[in-house]
Amino acid sequence: MTDNFRFHLIPASPTDLAAEALAGLRARPKRLPCKLFYDEAGLALFEAICATPEYDLCRNETALLRTQAASIADAVGRGACLVEPGAGGCEKVGLLLDALAPAAYAPLDIAGESLERAAQALAARRPGLRVTACAMDFLADLERIAPLLPDGRRVFFYPGSSIGNFTPEEAIALLARFRRLAGTDGGLLIGFDCKKHPGRISRAYNDEQGLTARFNLNLLGHANRLLDGNFDPGGFAHHAFYEPVEGRIEMHLVSLRDQTVRIAGDEISFPRGETLHTENSYKYLPGEFAALAGAAGWAPAGEWLAEEAAFAVQHFRAA
Ligand code: AVJ
Repeated sequence: MTDNFRFHLIPASPTDLAAEALAGLRARPKRLPCKLFYDEAGLALFEAICATPEYDLCRNETALLRTQAASIADAVGRGACLVEPGAGGCEKVGLLLDALAPAAYAPLDIAGESLERAAQALAARRPGLRVTACAMDFLADLERIAPLLPDGRRVFFYPGSSIGNFTPEEAIALLARFRRLAGTDGGLLIGFDCKKHPGRISRAYNDEQGLTARFNLNLLGHANRLLDGNFDPGGFAHHAFYEPVEGRIEMHLVSLRDQTVRIAGDEISFPRGETLHTENSYKYLPGEFAALAGAAGWAPAGEWLAEEAAFAVQHFRAA
């Protein structure tokens, strides 16, 4: 055990999750929250998706963080307390640690077991870094980390185009929550996937190996376990497409037959052909995103673009 590691478990309220799922299943179109993708199997599938030739988001971002680490560190400033919502296996931050030299790192993730493993291993490799990991649903409970965070200027690190999962209005609201927690001297370092050829965007969510389809269908198994459901993943088909008016990928699960599912104490029927909307993944031009962050109280303070402006990392300071 190293003494630079802290682990906090902030359990999600199961009744909140059930209420959220049932509200989505009673809406039209039906939907389930995309955080349900991330059980241990979902995390492994997402990692496998990142290795497919079609899904280039992770590779683009990793290349940027690797090659631009020094310039990013100059913009962000050293010695900060880095807070990473949805940190998963804490891999991305590793690309920045040498250059950025933060005093502390606070990864937050809903998949608590893998978070604890990864964060503890990181703390052991970096005895000079204070690692405070929080297993939590950061969307529900973000503000609860305030008293747990080590001292230091707070910089939110939100890579991976996770922000794309929110509608622009939801994204502004989330970035404003980051802004409030970060304070007047706070920062935001964020990565997002950019608008590009629609065929290229769409292929990233329809990989030849079918891993994205398995990732999408895995949500049903996870929902079954968490919410005492009996979804049959074999009764649904993966369907993902780029919608250029909204500028987003939509992922759906389309019911292949008339069926009734029991979940969270309720019964939900799916006529053949009805869709369950599982994810949005918005794509932004760099200027569009800077304007969105501006609406949440963030002022632009650095930008790094991948090849062909396929992916962007932007830095902001509190406005
Ligand atoms: C991890 C949310 C960035 O939206 O591209 C991958 C998840 N969905 N393939 C994305 C995902 C389908 C991914 N994010």
